[in-house]
Amino acid sequence: MTHDENTNNRFQMVCVVAMANNGVIGDGQGLIWHLPGDLPRVKKITMGCPLIMGRRTWASIGKALPGRASIVLTRDTSWTADGAIVAHSLSDAIMHGKSWLAKQESQETRLILFGGGEIYSLGIDLCQEIELTRVNATPPNGTKFPNINWQEWDEFDATSHKAGEGHPSFSYHRYIYKTQNRYV
Ligand SMILES: NC(=O)c1ccc[n+]([C@@H]2O[C@H](COP(=O)([O-])OP(=O)(O)OC[C@H]3O[C@@H](n4cnc5c(N)ncnc54)[C@H](OP(=O)(O)O)[C@@H]3O)[C@@H](O)[C@H]2O)c1
Repeated sequence: MTHDENTNNRFQMVCVVAMANNGVIGDGQGLIWHLPGDLPRVKKITMGCPLIMGRRTWASIGKALPGRASIVLTRDTSWTADGAIVAHSLSDAIMHGKSWLAKQESQETRLILFGGGEIYSLGIDLCQEIELTRVNATPPNGTKFPNINWQEWDEFDATSHKAGEGHPSFSYHRYIYKTQNRYV
């Protein structure tokens, strides 16, 4: 769908996440695994899109990711950072995402829910799609992805990758919400 056709706010939110078997996504600071090929894959999925992330995830990345908008949620009304578009609520973040897309010469209609745990909890019920990297590990503790009912999602395009030096096995999965098209 092009922007010209997209007259009814037909934008969709896509959650991009890597999680362990027990739902852990990080240690509260950064990622806890380095999987070959995962970062390029995330880059490919998200290029040209607004990324909606929490202030702690922004801090863990440390900079704006090129070719994408970094929309950072914080309750701190004085917070600013070079390269970040600040938002104080999810609806504010979605509005900034749509405005940013409207300024691009692109036909993109996806907004990315980029984490971390608090922001996934805030936005997962608005997502149409989840691009999941499932990591075959069970970290004893850490920030978790919210509990969702995976029965409500259809799975597509799963691919498995063997464990290698310094990393566990992992797999990629695309999930689409079953019962309706969700737009933001
Ligand atoms: N594995 C993955 O795919 C993945 C992806 C992303 C992140 N992570 C990991 O997740 C961890 C961080 O997650 P987290 O849950 O600790 O933090 P987070 O979700 O990244 O950020 C939380 C912050 O967002 C702001 N916030 C939350 N709800 C808000 C609301 N309703 N309105 C306005 N602002 C709001 C607050 O910022 P203020 O405190 O400034 O008010 C809050 O402290 C890190 O370990 C990171 O590496 C993993």
